[in-house]
Amino acid sequence: MIYLKTDEEIELLRENCLLVSKTLAEVGRHIKPGVTTKELDKIAEDFIRSNGAIPPQIGYEGYPAATCISVNEQVVHGIPTDKTVIKEGDIVSVDLCTFMKGFVGDSAYTFAVGAISDEARKLLEVTKEALYKGTAQAKAGNRVGDISAAVQEYAESFGYGVVRELEGHGLGRKMHEDPGVPNYGARGRGPLLKEGMVICIEPMITMGNKAVVFERDGWTVRTRDRKPAAHFEFAVAIRKNGPDVLTDFGIIEQAIEQVNW
Ligand code: MF3
Ligand code: CO
Repeated sequence: MIYLKTDEEIELLRENCLLVSKTLAEVGRHIKPGVTTKELDKIAEDFIRSNGAIPPQIGYEGYPAATCISVNEQVVHGIPTDKTVIKEGDIVSVDLCTFMKGFVGDSAYTFAVGAISDEARKLLEVTKEALYKGTAQAKAGNRVGDISAAVQEYAESFGYGVVRELEGHGLGRKMHEDPGVPNYGARGRGPLLKEGMVICIEPMITMGNKAVVFERDGWTVRTRDRKPAAHFEFAVAIRKNGPDVLTDFGIIEQAIEQVNW
């Protein structure tokens, strides 16, 4: 069941999504060699709560933390731990949600830790651009498959893998609503996009093979070949005038530009 949102509801979603972006910026400021993913999770949780929201990932199907932090070959759903220490050259995906005023915000960003390899830099650039290519298709009258195909074609044109096992989703009063938004597919297929729909597009792109493994902790998804993966996500409302991105990567990018250590 796809819930169409009113303009007022979209503004509540936007408030949440902007808080998610600010939280990602706050986490990004603290990503440096030596910090643990557990410490980053605490920074996110405190920031979310001090802004009047709660972190709905805690307890979601038993998930134990406010954020998912996935390093290098981890694709998504990495559980923050005090054993996972960030080092220079890592790429770190942080995925988090907020809940306030009855609605959820959701976004993810993959951060570079200091100097990373040219290969990793390219993977980040292409994954983010794949998200933008998908977003350009997020307009009324198109279908979900138009988004999926745009993401897939762009990522695969660089020889990267497109993860099949996980996908984007509708966003609203619940973290995961219909429709599912795969990162691969065929143009003209899938659910029709209508004004008032809000969806999260979230390409998960691998440097090597697209196959993934689910770790025994019940959550962490990593590449089978242990090559790096990147993940960017944001929320988009389908409006009369086209895609309306509710999250703001600009806030994050401004924050990390000013970091020096
Ligand atoms: N924020 C994630 C998403 O993009 C959800 C993570 S699953 C959870 O859909 F269990 F960690 F919440
Ligand atoms: Co999501």
